[in-house]
Amino acid sequence: MNHKRVLLIVGGGVAAYKALALVRLLRKAGIAVRPILTAAGARFVTPLSLSALAEDAVRADLFSLGDEAEMGHIQLSRSADLVLVVPATADLMAKAAHGLADDLASTTLLATDKPVMMAPAMNVRMWLHPATRRNLATLKSDGVTFIGPDEGAMACGEYGPGRMAEPEAIFEAVVAALGADLSPGPLAGRHVLVTAGPTAEPIDPVRVLTNRSSGKQGYAIAGALAVLGARVTLVSGPTALAPPLGVDRLNIETALEMEAACRNALPADAAVCVAAVSDWRPDAAFPLKLKKGTGGPPTVSLVENPDILAGLAAAGPHRPGLVVGFAAETHDLEDNARAKLKRKGCDWIVANDVGGGQAGGGAIMGGDENEVLIIDRQGEERWPRAGKAEVARRLAARIAASLSSGGKI
Ligand code: CTP
Repeated sequence: MNHKRVLLIVGGGVAAYKALALVRLLRKAGIAVRPILTAAGARFVTPLSLSALAEDAVRADLFSLGDEAEMGHIQLSRSADLVLVVPATADLMAKAAHGLADDLASTTLLATDKPVMMAPAMNVRMWLHPATRRNLATLKSDGVTFIGPDEGAMACGEYGPGRMAEPEAIFEAVVAALGADLSPGPLAGRHVLVTAGPTAEPIDPVRVLTNRSSGKQGYAIAGALAVLGARVTLVSGPTALAPPLGVDRLNIETALEMEAACRNALPADAAVCVAAVSDWRPDAAFPLKLKKGTGGPPTVSLVENPDILAGLAAAGPHRPGLVVGFAAETHDLEDNARAKLKRKGCDWIVANDVGGGQAGGGAIMGGDENEVLIIDRQGEERWPRAGKAEVARRLAARIAASLSSGGKI
């Protein structure tokens, strides 16, 4: 089973075209690829072909508001098991050796705490230049591993060392470095729908009714399911999180949009509703911004939102085989969660105590840990307090076991 992730930096050299073949090999093996394209790299391969093959958006700009809002370079640099530079140009090697950080690729290389692997490609004179030799030695002593370059005829017409290693050789080195197990995961061929984050219900063009959900637990679950080989559709309310690698994210704002997105995503083998859906929405958003001093505070009347979990769990041809709900409670955890399991018709409820009595909100909502109680029709299971990623891994494994048992467990 493979669940590895590579952050691929494509530098500017003729050999960049080989990065595309490498991406195909990695994706075929189930290794997720998140691509970064340098400005020079974009002269050789297009963002479109790179993102189509990687099945992920190409990051190119350090200061792009869109990308930064989705994922800052620090987070980006930690989002994979390995950072791979293909081709590693003389310039990229020099930047990395000196700790320069003037674009997304070099900043990522400086910010990462993950192993870095480089496949150099450059003219033989550049490769043999004392400056490159020094940079190579520095990078090696910094722990960077190198594949190639090979010796041979180069695009510039010269002969010698500097030709980039072949994609197959890089692929093998990556697999070995990752210790990747290339057998398919237990959720291969399965589709799992996950809802996560808060919803935001408009009051007027500038105000919304929302809640404190960070989306962290739902995102971690989506990522853990993808790691086990599932095709994951993550229907997410507004969060500050980047989509986990290998997950298809659909961004929505309101509960009604979330409901429609979930419906459109069916059929699914399992659905995991982690979203903190607003129970109510203003019955109609004010078309213009509400202003003070025009007859006192406005009255906002609310109407109930559809229960997305209950809708998914309702019997019907498209009911996922396994429907999992969450219950965030401030009190009477077990009783409330058990009642929810019945009321919503789902198969499991993952209940957690979000802590009550604090005006600042529960300790767990937004935090990095969770302590959950899993309730199903057979009984219940209390899991020790753990990081959200660990809870996600356990839950994904439980879902995989249940689906492969045909719903018997
Ligand atoms: N949920 C949903 N759609 C809603 C409300 C909740 O899909 N409109 C799902 C949540 O994603 C979660 C579960 O239902 O999996 C429980 O959510 P929670 O907010 O705890 O339950 P409520 O239905 O709001 O019940 P209560 O008001 O009693 O807390």
